[in-house]
Amino acid sequence: MGSPARVAVIGAGHVGLPTAATLATMGHVVSCAESNSERLAILRRGDVPIFEVGLLDAVRREVRDGRLTFVETASEAAADAEFVFMCVPTPERPDGSADLSFLERAARQVSQSLRPGAVVVNKSTVPIGSTRLVEETIGRRDIVVVSNPEFLREGTAVLDSLSPDRIVVGADDQEAAARVGALFGATGAPLVVTDAATAETIKYVANTFLATKLSFMNAVAALCEAVGADVRDVILGLGYDRRIGFDFLRPGPGWGGSCFPKDTQALLHIATEAGYDFPILRTVIETNTDQMRRIVGKLDTALRKHLRLSETENGIAGRVVAVWGLTFKAGTDDLRESPALRICAQVLAAGATIRAFEPTLTPESAEAKVPRALRREWNSMGLDESLLDGMVLTATPSSASQGASALLLLTEWDEFRRAQLGSLRADLLEPVIVDARNVLDPGAARSAGFTYIGVGRP
Ligand code: UDX
Repeated sequence: MGSPARVAVIGAGHVGLPTAATLATMGHVVSCAESNSERLAILRRGDVPIFEVGLLDAVRREVRDGRLTFVETASEAAADAEFVFMCVPTPERPDGSADLSFLERAARQVSQSLRPGAVVVNKSTVPIGSTRLVEETIGRRDIVVVSNPEFLREGTAVLDSLSPDRIVVGADDQEAAARVGALFGATGAPLVVTDAATAETIKYVANTFLATKLSFMNAVAALCEAVGADVRDVILGLGYDRRIGFDFLRPGPGWGGSCFPKDTQALLHIATEAGYDFPILRTVIETNTDQMRRIVGKLDTALRKHLRLSETENGIAGRVVAVWGLTFKAGTDDLRESPALRICAQVLAAGATIRAFEPTLTPESAEAKVPRALRREWNSMGLDESLLDGMVLTATPSSASQGASALLLLTEWDEFRRAQLGSLRADLLEPVIVDARNVLDPGAARSAGFTYIGVGRP
């Protein structure tokens, strides 16, 4: 195990805060900078602004034991540090490329206060070659910049950081790279030391590979529907093959979140700029867009059949649709690039109204209809804000389904697995369920009188 180091973490977001808490848990002394005054106030009063299993306990324990403090400015955090971790956002620009302005600003802020010989560690996901850019922005010969991409998942970020599958560190200066690797010695994870561009490439390729696996499985689910096979058993038959494994085989409404959509677009942009067309990646992205359309298509077809409408009629227009789950996956309160929101927009655009329940969102007031957080995310995804006039957030799953013509289940929250089908049947005007996460038991749903449509299964 390496000796404790003095570490600064710039940014207390989804990556920075779990990183700060786990570096402190490993014995290092961490100063974490958060420039947003609201978030800083939350942290200073002993709370955390994001929902992550084990994060609140870890932060409170490390603050109490004196290994973790929160400061306002990046330069203050960096002043005494041997290692400075950059954990600032790199959002997607309209052309798909990554916006590096937060990273450049943070680099400028720390450049004056860095101790001689300090190592700057870039954790933000950045275009290949950006480690150099940070080095140039800092502009000091005595400062080495190292790439150390994160692979943590939202919701399990603390666990993922404490027991990572591997640590990747990339730099021209291999000695500095090894020192950064040693900070994580307590995890016992294999260490991959490489150059900066390769480390940056690994990060993009890991996320796009996982997105590829998911798009492939969503396509396999469509195939299963076409040939009458059951994707659940296909998953069993695949997963036991150790070369394939069980992870990331579950079909769903499409993948989303703060990383996959942004990183697939960014890698496509990087490849195209570099003269490689990357056709498979294009198809992976298109398949994901298609998957969201397919879910809306399932709802349309199910309602049309149930209401005995003709092939040319719109089954969705004029109906009330209950939606359960809006976050991009269960276990997080994050709505960023949630497939559920894109699907809701399509259902609203087809002329329905939506009554939605999401366990992590509380209705603000009857007049507000949807909370500000949802409206903000909706707008930043470029969805038509006027469509939100047709949507209302409810406080319980049952108040969403009461009087609705169909239930559309979009996020795999456990509480939905335990739904009382009898009372759901009584709530809905039409007994139609489209389960985009395959969480309900089709046999039980059909016995309760529902027309049940899952993904890739009979
Ligand atoms: C992802 C990567 O897993 C992580 O390594 C990286 O650091 C950040 O991006 P995260 O965005 O938290 O993490 O979500 P993840 O759990 O990977 O899920 C991504 C999307 O894939 C979600 O929309 C999820 O619902 C979907 N998914 C995942 C499926 O549809 N099926 C699955 O089997 C797994």
